[in-house]
Amino acid sequence: MSEMATLQVQGKTYNLPVVVGTENEVAVDISKLRAESGVITLDDGYSNTGSCRSTITFIDGERGILRYRGIPIEQLAEHSTFLETAWLLIYGELPTAEQLQCWSHRMTQYEMLHEGLYKHYDGFPSQGHPMAILSAMINATSCYNPDVIKMESAETFQSAAARLLSKTRTIAAAAYKTSIGQPLIYPKPEYDYCSNFLHMMFSIPFKEYEPDPDIVNALQLIFVLHADHEQNCSTSTVRMVASSGANLFASCAAGVCALWGPLHGGANAAVIEMLKYIQDSGMSVKEYVAKVKDKTSHIKLMGFGHRVYKNYDPRARIIKAAADRVLNKLQIHDPMLDLARALEEAALSDDYFKEKKLYPNVDFYSGIIMKAIGIPVEMFTVMFAIGRMPGWIANWKEVWEGGARIYRPRQVYVGPTEREYMPIGQRKEMHIPGISGEAAMRGGCQ
Ligand code: ACO
Repeated sequence: MSEMATLQVQGKTYNLPVVVGTENEVAVDISKLRAESGVITLDDGYSNTGSCRSTITFIDGERGILRYRGIPIEQLAEHSTFLETAWLLIYGELPTAEQLQCWSHRMTQYEMLHEGLYKHYDGFPSQGHPMAILSAMINATSCYNPDVIKMESAETFQSAAARLLSKTRTIAAAAYKTSIGQPLIYPKPEYDYCSNFLHMMFSIPFKEYEPDPDIVNALQLIFVLHADHEQNCSTSTVRMVASSGANLFASCAAGVCALWGPLHGGANAAVIEMLKYIQDSGMSVKEYVAKVKDKTSHIKLMGFGHRVYKNYDPRARIIKAAADRVLNKLQIHDPMLDLARALEEAALSDDYFKEKKLYPNVDFYSGIIMKAIGIPVEMFTVMFAIGRMPGWIANWKEVWEGGARIYRPRQVYVGPTEREYMPIGQRKEMHIPGISGEAAMRGGCQ
């Protein structure tokens, strides 16, 4: 008989199954608890809730371990390409040479967008944020791929996954071109995945961009390091949307929106803004660290801290070494790298950061490499989204194949108990900043 946990609530005892993962992670299965007892569990922000069983990615935050399908991130960073890693995540095993060739071929086959989709870009204002454009365009792509909406067979999934991964870089580069008011550049079939993306980002009609192998390799590394990360905010969003039966493109478009926030994928751009602020203000590293520790400042050390890693983010270690290598190779001296190093050193020796177990995460150094290879800051989170696409696709597939029930968390209601409807003339005005008093009289919402 498998192990059971015992829970006592309001004088009654309940036996709950204990689930053990392949890496000995122990969980108490409470899925039947409410039916048996009327009791739910409460876990604000899901910091201790396992929302699914997954075979894709393993993280041990205490020991700083990250593995995709069992393979350590350090080995993938050293030996693998983005496309190979994407295949591994989506299908569970590293591809054979033939499978990889076929996969690359599919990327080329699907690299173009439907001409109708290119017209959508005309509707976005220049200065429109590329993350907004990316999300909207991924969703719109499903209109041109109606078979994806039903997804009736495994074959449709294989082609949908390849279409989405391939087109994401085309959509992303076009989003950038739109945001700077330049003509859109078509992909080139002779280029590999990363070179093609760089070409679409940086070529202009009368000047071809020549992809530099060092830059292409740096981009591969960035994408591999971001390819999946277990049940983070955006991946959980993708799974949540997928669980309603929504199609792959719609679910991943939602993932892009979740990633956009500065506490998640937006942190890489926020790190550069923070470093720039420190440089421009002439503030010392010590002063900035003191400001972060002062809770009244409401400032965080961006690129530091992680919900899961309480030791060191292994991706940060790899990317920090890569930043040194890439900047050296490209013969770039960026004072921001020196500043980031000094900031890391100051934080790691400070009791505030030590006690709260706050270490650099992947975003702390990724922006510095992206800046060195010419990626503009407003595209940083888009780069993260391209990199994360295989993880989202793999997680979507897991939900789809598992025939998951719709995700539907419970809540503990803490609002007013039952009360009578009040006629309009008897109500007292409640103060709502921006729409109370005079503003409301003038027509309200300003
Ligand atoms: N700077 C200063 N203090 C911090 C930081 C930080 N970067 N991160 C956490 N803390 C403090 C919190 O204020 C809190 O203090 P308290 O206990 O006195 O209230 C304590 O450390 C615990 O932090 P939480 O916010 O509870 O940690 P949580 O797990 O909810 O948040 C998060 C994790 C969002 C990553 C947080 O550390 C953060 O905001 N970091 C900065 C943004 C960032 O780098 N995000 C990228 C995340 S990685 C990724 O998405 C790839």
